Amino acid sequence: LDGAVLVTGGAGYIGSHAVLALLDAGHRVVVIDNLTTGFAWAVDRRATLIQGNIEDDGLVRAALRDHDVRAIMHFAGSIIVPESVTDPLKYYRNNTVASRALLESAVVCGVRHFIFSSTAATYGTPEKVPVSEGDPTVPINPYGTSKLMTEIMLRDVAAAHPINYCALRYFNVAGADPEGRTGQSTAGATHLIKIAVEAATGKRETVGVFGTDYDTPDGTGVRDYIHVSDLAAAHVAALDLLVAQPARSHVLNAGYGRGFSVLEVLDAVDRVTNMKLERVVQGRRPGDAGALVADNRAILATLDWKPARDDLDMIVRDALAWERALQQRS
Ligand code: UFG
Repeated sequence: LDGAVLVTGGAGYIGSHAVLALLDAGHRVVVIDNLTTGFAWAVDRRATLIQGNIEDDGLVRAALRDHDVRAIMHFAGSIIVPESVTDPLKYYRNNTVASRALLESAVVCGVRHFIFSSTAATYGTPEKVPVSEGDPTVPINPYGTSKLMTEIMLRDVAAAHPINYCALRYFNVAGADPEGRTGQSTAGATHLIKIAVEAATGKRETVGVFGTDYDTPDGTGVRDYIHVSDLAAAHVAALDLLVAQPARSHVLNAGYGRGFSVLEVLDAVDRVTNMKLERVVQGRRPGDAGALVADNRAILATLDWKPARDDLDMIVRDALAWERALQQRS
């Protein structure tokens, strides 16, 4: 790329993996992160870290100009679904309003390419599984709505200005950098694999199983778990495509196209650790869909990207190795 890539939220979980993937591919990287949930130590030293908010137009535009930024990868945002229900305005501020400000700065400063962290939560409870990009988007929580609103802004901005975009709708992101350079580090985990490896390392006693009466083979929730390093690689491939075809934009599911149940995930953790996690059956978690699996034909056909880590045990092993390293640190 002729210029740098700005990574917002580059000190966070997925962002810090994307920074590594970009640097390893030879890109110049600038990170803006307010460090509310991210960590300065998670940003590779080869990148420039600027601490600040993406709504801070002065700070963002100075960074875009000073570093000759040509593309933005926008990870910064709030991601906890139940919190979005109790504090919707936080989600519309941090996800929708902040993205609007960032997009305006991008247009004003002539940034040509924009890659956005969207979510399968934009679909709500899909009518059919696997779910495709053209299926109805009917979010069932403010988190999903706040992300869908940004997708809509991107569509309209790309039609009006010389900028193209790729919105990646993430399914369940898990695992950690196989080289142990970064991982999921923010406290207060809600995601199943993170919670399970915390239990496996003694950080918690048991793992709750949220619902056993779904219309799935074993009654527990089925999800499409994708290794964070594969997801980071997909971002780099998306950047290459946006640069090669500047008149085209894309909305793509980022998943492997197969699902595992909660019990299958916990079995994998037991296999990898050679232990037996204590499972406590609980009621359904409000707002949870039964099965959510990606139709991933579009991303496979569109990007020069192939999953390299589509292996649940590998995802669990990498998550576990990071969890151990993280606990050593503190
Ligand atoms: N689960 C448990 N016990 C736990 C945690 C989760 O049984 O302690 C279950 C959930 O009920 C669900 C599955 O494990 O069936 C996965 O739950 P996660 O919390 O790991 O992930 P979600 O599918 O709820 O959420 C993910 C993303 C969200 C996104 C959503 C829909 O993290 O950002 O998918 O796309 F909104």
